[in-house]
Amino acid sequence: MLYSRIIGTGAYFPEKILTNADLMKMVDTDDKWIVERTGIHTRHISAKNEATSEMAYEAAKEALDMAGVKASEIDGIIFPTITPDYILPCAAAVLGGRLGISGPFAFDLNMACTGFICALNIADAFIKNGQCKTILIATGERLSTVTNYSDRATCILFGDAAGAAVVRADTKHGIRSCSIYADGSYGDLLYMHGMGSTYLANRDTMNLDDEMIVMKGNDVFKLAVRAMSDTAAETLEKSGLKSDDIDFVVPHQANIRIVEAVAKRLEVGMDRVIINLDRRGNCSAPTIPTALDEGIRSGKVKFGDNILMAAFGGGMNWGAAVLTL
Ligand code: UT7
Repeated sequence: MLYSRIIGTGAYFPEKILTNADLMKMVDTDDKWIVERTGIHTRHISAKNEATSEMAYEAAKEALDMAGVKASEIDGIIFPTITPDYILPCAAAVLGGRLGISGPFAFDLNMACTGFICALNIADAFIKNGQCKTILIATGERLSTVTNYSDRATCILFGDAAGAAVVRADTKHGIRSCSIYADGSYGDLLYMHGMGSTYLANRDTMNLDDEMIVMKGNDVFKLAVRAMSDTAAETLEKSGLKSDDIDFVVPHQANIRIVEAVAKRLEVGMDRVIINLDRRGNCSAPTIPTALDEGIRSGKVKFGDNILMAAFGGGMNWGAAVLTL
């Protein structure tokens, strides 16, 4: 039987840190509100010349190193991002160029926070159908470039980061089950219109500063809890594993209260949830691979552990994956 396994992970965070105290100088907010309502203390902000693909290059190098895989062995690159360097060429192609790879496919994936789980699902399918042996999933986001820093309901949440994973064909169990869903009728709950063709066609009347990320946070919150919990429970059942078999949950982290509600529904204690939101903020697609990488490098998460991932993001879309590392 052919399976696909994550055999290496990597993470990169820009040097600059934005604290709650910094945000208090920018909008009407306070540290206590941010910590109690979101769980976030700090987030990273990319430098002006620090491109998404450059951050992803650093994370990808770490993932390849851990996996013991050379760039020349990669059969394809999937790059979940909503903040690519450019619209064209895509970030995956730019990263492939940086890695010196010529030939294998390279495409971006616009699934916001659910991007990593969707990429895992695609990589799993490519590997199981025999089309690829080794796939690099590299994610990078510069959410700071699309955040409205006068909107206190969103600017406190987001951070910049890159995360990567090498997925390879194996005869041992790896990815056991994945689910991904979308419902475009919720598109007005979380969106970013700037630089899309509708914006560009009307750029004489639309102001780019008004077209940054917009979110109806409370509505998104309720949907996120329900969709992440339901999908995680369904994907766990599909995997054949039980809640007790899961060593760690590595969730998307938009808000600690969402994560706690999902963990409760899954009957998993918070000691079995890998958290990096407190230091990194909500980084969209890189959140899951960076949290996983931090878990592995700290020695908490080990190869052989059973992992449950769940995410929810703009689209709206959501998904979950159960795997053995
Ligand atoms: O990444 C995937 C998608 N994103 C998410 O899943 C994010 C989901 N949503 C959230 O995390 C939360 O809804 C937020 C953190 C965005 C907001 O927290 P909330 O507990 O849902 O607050 P709220 O929007 O219901 O607002 C409650 C109050 C309001 O004041 P009034 O109307 O009660 O006087 C807000 O104006 O909190 C106020 N508020 C703030 N106060 C201080 C909103 N943002 C802030 C702030 N500082 N930064």
